[in-house]
Amino acid sequence: MTRSILDLFPVSVSLDATGSLAVAGHSLTALARHYGTPLYVYDAATITGQIAQIQDLLAQNYPAALDVTYAAKAYFSLGMARRLAQLNLGVDVVSLGELRVAQKAGFAPERVHLHGNNKSESDLLAAVEWGVQAIVVDSLEELAYLERLCARLRRTARIWLRVTPGIHVDTHAYRQTAHPASKFGLPLADGQAAEGIRRARASQWLKLTGLHTHLGSLVFEVEPYCQAIETLLELAASQDWVPEELSPGGGWGVPYTLDDPQGEPQPWIEAVTGAVKAGCARRGWPLPKLLLEPGRMIVARAGVVIYTVGTTKTAADGTYFVAVDGGMADNPRPALYQAQYTACRVDLPNSPVTRKTTLVGKFCETGDRLIPEVYLPPLERGDLVAMPVAGAYHLAMSSNYNLAARPAVLWLEPGKVQTLQPREEPHEGGWWLGE
Ligand code: LLP
Repeated sequence: MTRSILDLFPVSVSLDATGSLAVAGHSLTALARHYGTPLYVYDAATITGQIAQIQDLLAQNYPAALDVTYAAKAYFSLGMARRLAQLNLGVDVVSLGELRVAQKAGFAPERVHLHGNNKSESDLLAAVEWGVQAIVVDSLEELAYLERLCARLRRTARIWLRVTPGIHVDTHAYRQTAHPASKFGLPLADGQAAEGIRRARASQWLKLTGLHTHLGSLVFEVEPYCQAIETLLELAASQDWVPEELSPGGGWGVPYTLDDPQGEPQPWIEAVTGAVKAGCARRGWPLPKLLLEPGRMIVARAGVVIYTVGTTKTAADGTYFVAVDGGMADNPRPALYQAQYTACRVDLPNSPVTRKTTLVGKFCETGDRLIPEVYLPPLERGDLVAMPVAGAYHLAMSSNYNLAARPAVLWLEPGKVQTLQPREEPHEGGWWLGE
């Protein structure tokens, strides 16, 4: 079956009577005219479908306790958090900001984990006081620090240790997190992870319940996950300790272009659950509670960004540039990781007549290229361009570079449009236009 760019859009994508893109039955042209651009939209059906697929696959493959916790860093706002909290998810947070949003959105603390390689006192205190399921301790230094905080509060904290197994995954270097040079976690190789288990188990204030690792993000190979799980189990066994909980992190990939692997979650979930079951059976252990923490897989495909074309020009070397009204401030991924995307004209998504185009943003950097080479139909000022797979790590990493306002973000369901984030407005007295 030939795939089309529409396969990268949310599951509810359709073409309206004029052949123009719609999501959840809402014309993207009409939304862009009403809310302005750049405009981000999230499709409810894609998010609920992704979550259900992951939960169903886990339930089919793992006959013990399990949970799916959303990695909030992929995209979080109170509106999104409230909706996700209704969808039977836990959540991973990495800052006081994310923790407070999770709290306000109604996540149960026993489904919340606090991650981070340098948690502040206020991050840790908030997590201890809220009674989160686990604070994921990232170093021996943090273990000692958290123990002192807990002693001061006279409160015990449930913890996991994040282990760095020294495993390489095939993704951009900035997304690799489990190799020997990683800033994350307790290294396995030099005994720090084992020492962490011993110290945590001896502590009166810390209750060690689990082990965690996160290999990296946008990963399409199952083998490193199996290796990581076996490594965690072996580490626990070396300390004569059977963990109650185990998490091999998140990181499973999604396609951004039609050339990418399809990123179906089934191989990932089968491999992960298979490795835990086999490793525990071999050791005669009961199955631990298994926790997966996907971010990108849940929100990436649900998101679409719509831009308006401004200037078009041909450079001296013949490069044909189309510039849109957003770019690296709302999506820094191409500049940071050479991330690949595709795009189309909102009113002509499948046009056969195309021209080799370099799609650039409006920011004052040569690296502000959204797509170095894409075949698009003729475009002129005022035309709308849509980029699919815009739901993860765009707005979450957005900036006010060049004092750009962050875009509006909408949540779309059939017959319903709700605002998750209003477009930022510089206002008198705010930090842009204040004193
Ligand atoms: N768990 C931990 C501990 C993590 O650090 C992350 C992502 C996740 C789970 C979720 O990973 P996911 O399922 O979303 O791949 N900004 C980069 C991605 C950074 C990922 C950071 N950690 C990008 O745009 O590609």
